[in-house]
Amino acid sequence: MAKLPILIAPDPTLKTAARPVETVDDRVRQLLDDMLETMYDAPGIGLAGPQVGALERVVVIDAAEKGAPPQPHKLVNPEIIWHGEELATHEEGCLSLPDIFAEISRPGHVRLRYLDENGAEQILDADGLLATVVQHEIDHLNGVLFVDHLSNLKRNMLMKKLSKQMQKSGKPRYAAATA
Ligand code: NI
Repeated sequence: MAKLPILIAPDPTLKTAARPVETVDDRVRQLLDDMLETMYDAPGIGLAGPQVGALERVVVIDAAEKGAPPQPHKLVNPEIIWHGEELATHEEGCLSLPDIFAEISRPGHVRLRYLDENGAEQILDADGLLATVVQHEIDHLNGVLFVDHLSNLKRNMLMKKLSKQMQKSGKPRYAAATA
């Protein structure tokens, strides 16, 4: 396994839609393993291909509660096939937007179709934090960041804060669970 460099906004790759994976082979399994290692190391609770420069529809997530056993998810070509009517609001952060947080409302319950690391089709029902992270990561596959759900004014303010922080410290620091 190997740790991969995480791209930081405004890197244009983060605004580019990723292409579907055609075959889940050893190369894709290696990428998923490397992404999981990178995510745990950051530390984060989700990571999508474009965040490590891979414009492919691959996502890793572990939204297990602190102290609970790890619950790694490796998702290839994930697709939301149903979502509930009710919205849930969580404070979101992102490994590509270090130390930037905002409350975002999304459907509180989603059903997902994806390929597992053996290429088999799976269905996942997600609610709570997992539902938020799944939607945050699928946004990444479509070139969308969580700040894109905010008003222009709020987004510009947060992006300025990020740019100042990066100039000052030169490297990202992660204060809380981010995705
Ligand atoms: Ni993110």
